[in-house]
Amino acid sequence: MKQTCDVVIVGTGVAGLYCALNLPDYMKIRMITKQKADESDSWLAQGGICMLRGEDDYEPYFEDTMRAGHYENNEKTVDLMIRSSNSIIRNLVQRGVRFSRDPDGELEFTREGAHSRPRILFHEDVTGREITSVLLRQAREKPNIMIDEYTTMADIICCDNVCRGVVAFREAGNPYVIEAPHVVLACGGVGGLFDNSTNFPHMTGDALAIALEHGVEAEHLDYIQIHPTTLYSEKPGRRFLISESVRGEGALLYDKNGERFTDELKPRDLLSADIRAQMEADGTRFVWEDLRPLGEQVIREHFPNIYNHCLEEGLDVLSEPIPVVPAQHYFMGGIRADLSGRTSMQGLYACGETGCNGVHGRNRLASNSLLESLVFAQRAADDIAFGGNRCCSGNGNGQNMTGAWGSTVPQAGRCSYPAEGSMVNLDKYRNPDALFAHYRCLVRNEMKRMKRSHESDDVSGKDKAWS
Ligand code: SIN
Repeated sequence: MKQTCDVVIVGTGVAGLYCALNLPDYMKIRMITKQKADESDSWLAQGGICMLRGEDDYEPYFEDTMRAGHYENNEKTVDLMIRSSNSIIRNLVQRGVRFSRDPDGELEFTREGAHSRPRILFHEDVTGREITSVLLRQAREKPNIMIDEYTTMADIICCDNVCRGVVAFREAGNPYVIEAPHVVLACGGVGGLFDNSTNFPHMTGDALAIALEHGVEAEHLDYIQIHPTTLYSEKPGRRFLISESVRGEGALLYDKNGERFTDELKPRDLLSADIRAQMEADGTRFVWEDLRPLGEQVIREHFPNIYNHCLEEGLDVLSEPIPVVPAQHYFMGGIRADLSGRTSMQGLYACGETGCNGVHGRNRLASNSLLESLVFAQRAADDIAFGGNRCCSGNGNGQNMTGAWGSTVPQAGRCSYPAEGSMVNLDKYRNPDALFAHYRCLVRNEMKRMKRSHESDDVSGKDKAWS
């Protein structure tokens, strides 16, 4: 069963949805997602979304982003993200997204670690859910957008470094082809590869593995962000975030003796390191976070989700500190993408956490992720709509039918899909367990390789700045 459309979007987080909503109505768009459409990491984002608050804040916002990223950020993408933030927020508000407002109806802003001033819009402590649910509802209402849940991408199909669609399956053993001249990979990060992560476990870096198989360029795969404060739990499964905006509003961290040991608003990587060092010194598996300095009203009104979740776990944040521990949270690396989300393969785009355009450098500034996803997803949509990266049809010239799985070299001149209308060999996708074990292994190995390479660059003092 082969299917066709204009654009395949893999992933239903904010990047995928915003890309779909910004494409023209005449384009037939197919969105696929591994689980339910609302099971994306965008949905889980608590803290908020940054916004440029007038020209006075341009320099400080730029500097905060760069400093948090250890100045390894791509200055062009940082500038573009900041400059685009007002139009993105205006569009979200027009779409019906609700942000917290003061009694006069003015937008309210909160603060998080490494921000020199408050510039983060929020909706209680469920900002990601608010934005993603509005976009998802609108995408479901559009007749040109079809969303396939419980549908997994097994591979892309390509020829001579031109992407022509994807191989997907809903039931193991029944793979099929969706042919399209544009494929957007917007399927989150790699948290599912870690034992302790705030991400949904199905975020296992499949898109990255598939890109690596086809020789598509990837960047900074060892740049993993650890969130300093997740609720300590003995249970397996996803770690529950205690939003950084809680600390931005005044929550404190204590060691085992109830003493403060750090500046709670340090960038995430530095604070996580301080917490780990304290845990080691104390011989504990967590430190304590005290939300009481915020006061009952702020806790109940701004952080109802955290308050209720902790109550369910038997912890009353109004009357006691809670145990917190660092856990994997975000992936700054990914498939290398340019300012329009283009990858090194024609017709293939990467957005959101899946892509790496260098905007976050080595360590992401809090609440830049939703904004970055929206800005560059819209740019990818524009690039697709205006025809810049379209693959030409039927240019295959009969090369051997070679599948990606098992190959480790760039695919230039090699085809999994030699010509439109020809058959893709689907046999190799009939055993997804083996295929995805191979993908996980590939990503882990490449992460290790890049880590070693960064470490040797550090020793040699080589410049890692974006050119
Ligand atoms: C948080 O609320 O601490 C997470 C938000 C983010 O990752 O930027």
